[in-house]
Amino acid sequence: MKKGRVFSGARPTGRQHLGNYLGAIRNYVALQQDYDCVYCVVDLHALTTLRETHELRSNTYEMVLDWLAAGMDPSASIIFVQSQVPQVTELHTILSMVTPMGWLMRLPTFKEKVRQQPDNVNYGLLGYPVLMASDIALYKADTVPVGEDQLPHLEFAREVVRRFNAQFGPILIEPQAKLSEVPRVLGLDGVNKMSKSLNNHIELAASPEEIERRVMTMVTDPARRYRTDVGNPDICNVQTLHRLFSGSPERIEEIAHQCRHASIGCVAHKREFARDLANALAPFRERRAELERDPDKVWDILSDGARRAREIATKTIAEVREAVGLP
Ligand code: AMP
Ligand code: TRP
Repeated sequence: MKKGRVFSGARPTGRQHLGNYLGAIRNYVALQQDYDCVYCVVDLHALTTLRETHELRSNTYEMVLDWLAAGMDPSASIIFVQSQVPQVTELHTILSMVTPMGWLMRLPTFKEKVRQQPDNVNYGLLGYPVLMASDIALYKADTVPVGEDQLPHLEFAREVVRRFNAQFGPILIEPQAKLSEVPRVLGLDGVNKMSKSLNNHIELAASPEEIERRVMTMVTDPARRYRTDVGNPDICNVQTLHRLFSGSPERIEEIAHQCRHASIGCVAHKREFARDLANALAPFRERRAELERDPDKVWDILSDGARRAREIATKTIAEVREAVGLP
């Protein structure tokens, strides 16, 4: 007996980075054991910001390759593309009617997008969280693994579901966010959240050479300007990430001690981290290369996933229409 239903989505951004992995994918994989899981490539959401829509196909492919190589299992979970189950757009329209405009305009995520793309503040961007709430509600998910940046969206989804249920009856489920142990992974700059758009990321699929090149650019404790300065490993992103990918907690403690006493330099530490990270990701790279030999496999998995997702979606939509009174 499973504990409940999990749903999560991610925009098709192509190859995934350590932030996606530590903040979300690692949880997606772990939850497959105990929950009924539904994982979605949210291509409609991507349209709110994407200009190069011809990249949707290759970005979807690369992202799903990463998902599978990281251990997401299509025989246990439903993995599908959002737009291939169009019922979500119907629920989006219906939930729009119980969504006050003020809630949307107040969301920090919307304000940030307005700052980022002032020349493309489209209607879809404002409705982004309603579409996200529809994703979750359509599959009646109770648990939603996400990174910290998505918490305002999850709170919004709960409020919309509550409002819908208050008006039309207890049809939809109020979802709960589930954060990973590392809900906000910092980028190479050590300041901003790791993200592809800031180019401060390390891809899971990066080669050992690429990993080393990127790691060597990482910002460490800014107070440690010279090799002889002592450092504070507690605020060093190399230390934070190294801890997560090292097989030896003792060595991590030793490095922390050496950093505090200036007996290891940042350059040496980065080299060691790059090597451990490349080793830790080696099995992932192998599985990915294996999967890449059969490109049809990804598309077959997605079309089977859409078929299974549609079965759930059709049921929910029928209940919603009935509750709302649509003939
Ligand atoms: P996105 O690629 O922005 O659609 O994000 C996909 C998932 O990865 C979401 O659950 C995000 O919250 C999570 N995520 C993305 N970047 C980070 C990060 N730097 N730290 C933690 N989680 C992240
Ligand atoms: N907004 C999420 C992001 O940018 C993606 C997303 C869309 C999502 N629908 C979802 C996440 C439903 C969790 C559940 O990362």
